[in-house]
Amino acid sequence: MDLELTEAERLIRDTARAFARDRIAPQARMHDREEHFPSELLRQMAELGLMGVNIPAELGGAEAGAVAYSLAMMEVSAACASTSVAMGVTNMCAELITRFGTGAQKQRLVPRLTSGEAVAGAFALSEAHCGSDAAALRTTAVRRGPDWVLNGAKQWITSGAHAQVTVVWARTSGTGSRGISCFAVEGRPPGLTAGKPEDKMGLRGSNTVALTFEDCVLPGDALLGEEGDGFRVALVALDGGRIGIASQACGVARACLEASARYARERRAFGQPIGDFQAVRWFLANMRTELSAAELLTLRAASLKQAGRPFTREASMAKVFASEMANRAADKAVQIHGGYGYLDEFPVERYFRDARVQTIYEGTSEIQRMVIAREVLRAAVTS
Ligand code: CAA
Repeated sequence: MDLELTEAERLIRDTARAFARDRIAPQARMHDREEHFPSELLRQMAELGLMGVNIPAELGGAEAGAVAYSLAMMEVSAACASTSVAMGVTNMCAELITRFGTGAQKQRLVPRLTSGEAVAGAFALSEAHCGSDAAALRTTAVRRGPDWVLNGAKQWITSGAHAQVTVVWARTSGTGSRGISCFAVEGRPPGLTAGKPEDKMGLRGSNTVALTFEDCVLPGDALLGEEGDGFRVALVALDGGRIGIASQACGVARACLEASARYARERRAFGQPIGDFQAVRWFLANMRTELSAAELLTLRAASLKQAGRPFTREASMAKVFASEMANRAADKAVQIHGGYGYLDEFPVERYFRDARVQTIYEGTSEIQRMVIAREVLRAAVTS
C-alpha cells in the first residue's frame, strides 16, 4: 500500500476538513439536540464534491477515488456523525447506481445525488424481522404490464424521509438470496410512505424511518442490475459501505482523542494537570495507537477497492476493528472527562452515543466476523 496521498486525495481531505471544522462542527450539537436533519449542510457538501467523491466527473462526481472518500468521511465524522452517515449512504447509492445502472439510469439519477439536488440517497434493505439475515426479506415486487408493483415494509432506513433517490430490495421470485432484485425509486411515488422518525440513542441529527410500500408502482426501468441479482448488488454495495462506517468510526475516535487530550492538559487535580497522571497518559496512548491501527486497516481496504482488487475481508476487518475501537475510545473519553463527560456541556457524551451504532449498522460485528472467518476458511481450502 502506498501511504503517500495523491494531490486529489489531499485536496478532498483538506476541503472536507476545513468545511467540517468551520461549518459542520459548530452546528453538530444543535443537530443532535433538536433532531434536525442537516439538509443545508448536505447541499453545500455536494457543491464541494463530497456527495460523489468516488464518482466519475461526467456524472458530477469528484472522481477522487475510494481512499479520498474514506479520508473525507473521517473528517466529516470527526465533526458530526449524523451528517457523515447521510453523506456515506448518499455516496453508497451513487456508487451503486454508477456500477450497476444502465446508461440512462446513471445519467438520470447519479447527478441528482452528486449535485445535492436530491439532498440524500437511501439504502432500503433491512426489514423489521431481518437486519443481519438480509436474504430473508419479504418485500415483493411483481410485474404488472411494463411496471413493477412493490409491497412490503423496510426498517431503520437512514435518511428515508428525506431521500429523493431510494435504492430498495424486493423479492421477485423464490426464496433465499436468489430471486431478490434491486430497484431505484425516484422521489415519492404514490404508495411509498415514511414512518415517524425513530427516537434514537445517538445520531439524533440523522433521520431513521420505516418505509412502507403499498401497491407502489415503479416504471420498468426502475430495476437496477439484473432481475434476481439484487442480493449480490447489495453485498457489493455493503462492502464499500463498510469502509464508510469504518472511516466514520475513525473520525469519531479522533474527535474523542482530541477532546480528551485538550481536557487532560487543562483539568487539574491534586495540584497538576490530569494529563500528568500515568493512568490518563495510558488511556491517551492506547487511544492513539488503536486509532492509527484502525486508520491503516480502513485505508488499506479503500486502496484495495481503488485498485479494483477484492476487498470484502479487508472491509469487514476495518469495520469491526474501527467500530469497536471507537466505542472503547468514546468510553475512555467520557472517563477522562469525569463528571463533565456525562453532561452535554462537552461533546464526548454525544461521541459516546454516536459511536454505539457503529458496531451494529452496515452489518453487526458478529456479521463482520462471520464474513472474515468465511474468507479465512475459503483461503485455507484453496491454498
Ligand atoms: N460480494 C458479492 N457477492 C457476494 C458477497 C460479496 N461481498 N458475499 C456473498 N456474495 C454472494 C455469494 O457468493 C452468494 O452467491 P451465489 O448465490 O451465486 O452462490 C450470494 O451472494 C449469497 O451469499 P451468502 O450465501 O454468503 O448469503 P447469506 O445469506 O449467508 O448472507 C451475509 C451473507 C454476509 C450474512 C449478508 O446477509 C450480510 O452481509 N448481512 C448483513 C446485512 C447488512 O450489513 N445490513 C446493513 C443494512 S444497510 C445499513 O445499515 C445502512 C445504513 O443505514 C447506515
